[in-house]
Amino acid sequence: MPVTWDLTSVVLKKSIDSYAKRNDLRFLDMGCGQVALLGQYFKQTHSLAIVTSVDLYEDIVACARENISRNGLDINVIESDLFGSVEGMYDVISFNPPYVSLSEQKPEKYPKIRYGGVKGTEIFESFLQTVPQYLNPNGIVLLGINCFYVPEKKCLKLIETYQCKLKTIVRQACNTSVVFVLHY
Ligand SMILES: C[S@@+](CC[C@H](N)C(=O)[O-])C[C@H]1O[C@@H](n2cnc3c(N)ncnc32)[C@H](O)[C@@H]1O
Repeated sequence: MPVTWDLTSVVLKKSIDSYAKRNDLRFLDMGCGQVALLGQYFKQTHSLAIVTSVDLYEDIVACARENISRNGLDINVIESDLFGSVEGMYDVISFNPPYVSLSEQKPEKYPKIRYGGVKGTEIFESFLQTVPQYLNPNGIVLLGINCFYVPEKKCLKLIETYQCKLKTIVRQACNTSVVFVLHY
């Protein structure tokens, strides 16, 4: 499958550049995809960081490991349903979740790359519920959402429901995706 920076991951990259500057951070990228794009970017720009990339699908995890190894990077890749198999605490946790409603579903081998349940928000709601347990004091969450699919107002309501504090919203010109920078 061809992979490139999508609209959301490119704003996540901008958020990392602005809000995760320290070199020795513990970084976890949830839903890393087959290239583990953000984990590889983080490790290449933060040589002292401890980086973990996580995905749900075995094939995607295998592909990410192969790609990382060809780039000679030291990144821990875990197959896990959200935090089910994750251990430890992190300073920065990012997620570009699947946020398209199942009502738009087309047959696909790996549906959760794109579809986030009936409303489109189920997977990132579960993430918001659990993520505080894995965050170091002063840690931040970078949640990237394409607001073409889930309107910004709806995201802000959910963020409030799960008692996260909004630090800022990162935007990019001509891009419907934003990143909610959260802390607890
Ligand atoms: C929109 S893609 C983002 C891929 C990549 N991070 C990027 O930015 O290009 C969403 C990713 O989340 C993964 N995912 C979906 N549900 C998950 C879950 N419950 N636990 C872990 N990963 C999940 C999918 O397999 C997919 O790789």
